[in-house]
Amino acid sequence: MKNLSISEMSEKIEKLKKEKGALVLAHYYQDLAIQLVADHCGDSFELAKIARSSDKDIIIFCGVSFMADSAKIMNPEKRVFIPRRDAGCLMADMITPEKVLEMKKAHPDAAVVCYINSTAATKAVCDICVTSSNALKVVSALPQDEIIFIPDRNLGTFVAKYLPDKEFYFMDGCCPIHHDVTLEELRAAKAEHPDALVAIHPECRGELLAECDYIGSTSGILDFCRSSDATEFIVCTEKAIVDRLSYEMPQKKFYLMSPCLVCTDMKKTSLCDLLDTLENLKNEVYMTDEEMSAARLPLERMLEAAASGK
Ligand code: 13P
Ligand code: SF4
Repeated sequence: MKNLSISEMSEKIEKLKKEKGALVLAHYYQDLAIQLVADHCGDSFELAKIARSSDKDIIIFCGVSFMADSAKIMNPEKRVFIPRRDAGCLMADMITPEKVLEMKKAHPDAAVVCYINSTAATKAVCDICVTSSNALKVVSALPQDEIIFIPDRNLGTFVAKYLPDKEFYFMDGCCPIHHDVTLEELRAAKAEHPDALVAIHPECRGELLAECDYIGSTSGILDFCRSSDATEFIVCTEKAIVDRLSYEMPQKKFYLMSPCLVCTDMKKTSLCDLLDTLENLKNEVYMTDEEMSAARLPLERMLEAAASGK
């Protein structure tokens, strides 16, 4: 398999998808070669919705483990596979259920809002999940005046700014890849490309968000750059977004704000891993019924709140 070219592997993947009746989903941070053979690409929220509405019995999730786990939790009757079981998320590992329970004890009246970038065990002790694209809508619809927001302090702070009537409690969780981008890097990129618009993910620090033209999820950033009349953009999220934008719109220019914006876990999955997973149906996601049912409620509540007209 190692000697096959990208186009030979892609052809085999297309054939195997049909033979096995499998749905291949890819997060926008996956390598472009994987995105191009996927049935659907999306941000975390879109992929969670697609996984739930698909009629395929087999889902291959190219992304990191919390994403594949969420697809399994919401589709316990389906077989879900992740090409690289070791693809984790640094932020998801920053919080434990014990830490959440401690925060709940300190703030018993607060709703516990859990970013989807978390383990199933953490979700199980929370009230509702959010993703970067629906966090503001979901949290603003909550009746509670107090909110425990875990694990991402940056996303939580971004949401809290729009909801001054609610009191927020945070922990020190973050995505180091986004959090480590500095204001100096942002200002240097703007000085180098003065005509460019700046699009940023809310996992970055608030002081940076305040100086950007657009703040949104991975899909939001893609849509902003697609629909804007501007021709130059500085992008402050994972490098694969710049690769995808440059591929889709070669007439526009896209600059990655910092060379640090590479998620090594997202980059673990290769086309070869995807082919191997499809061929041999390996790396299946397994969880007990108890683990899944405890984590399902906050995910279901998120989907319901995000779909509501309020
Ligand atoms: P999105 O929900 O915007 O796709 O973000 C997922 C993620 O892991 C960002 O680091
Ligand atoms: Fe997790 Fe950060 Fe990678 Fe997103 S970019 S999957 S938050 S480590």
